[in-house]
Amino acid sequence: MSPSLPERAERSDGAFYDDLDGSLVEAWRLLEEGVTDRHSPCHTPSLGTLDAEGLPTVRTVVLRAVEQEARLLRFHTDLRSHKVAEIAAQPVVALHAYHPGRKIQLRLTGQALVHHGDEVARDAWQASRSFSRLCYGVEPGPGAAIEAPWDWRQGEDGSVEAESFQNFGAVLVKVESLEWLYLAARGHRRALYDWRGGALRKSWLVP
Ligand SMILES: Cc1cc2nc3c(=O)[nH]c(=O)nc-3n(C[C@H](O)[C@H](O)[C@H](O)COP(=O)(O)O)c2cc1C
Repeated sequence: MSPSLPERAERSDGAFYDDLDGSLVEAWRLLEEGVTDRHSPCHTPSLGTLDAEGLPTVRTVVLRAVEQEARLLRFHTDLRSHKVAEIAAQPVVALHAYHPGRKIQLRLTGQALVHHGDEVARDAWQASRSFSRLCYGVEPGPGAAIEAPWDWRQGEDGSVEAESFQNFGAVLVKVESLEWLYLAARGHRRALYDWRGGALRKSWLVP
């Protein structure tokens, strides 16, 4: 008989179960996997910001890069999108991902910085596929109110690439805290890692 999902997940938890440092290593591993594996749920985390009215708002983004040493995450966005103005007004953001196969939830907070027209943005732009670049040529900008659902046009290949780059933002999030939750039949495990104030503070929490 094949094992149920939780049993399968628990078989491979030897490297981190009841291990505070091991759980953090696994958290970063999952995030890194999210960049390279487009089928991983960590490929498309939810990003939370505060909107102009101070209300929490959440949307999906694609995780493009993870630098564990520097605690940086990167996603791309259109400079005209609401989230960019929201980040400018309040740079503290939240990110969330749940991996059902591994039974692991990650909740992160961090300081977001939008790069545009600089080396970070240029490198990210050059590494992205031309199909993805087309999105940044959309007119009018994302989130603009329109009369009819078709009252917008997509950027065209080639000719408008330079214009599209004007709208391209590479957002770096410096991770300040990471909360780990692992669901296991033999006992859930939850931990908090907090880099605010310099040194890493880490602690188990009641799940
Ligand atoms: C699977 C998926 C991936 C997405 N990836 C991104 C992304 O990487 N960057 C982005 O700005 N929007 C992305 N979006 C669209 C956002 O979720 C959102 O609808 C859009 O950016 C407008 O958000 P805002 O008005 O809060 O700025 C994605 C949506 C989905 C469903």
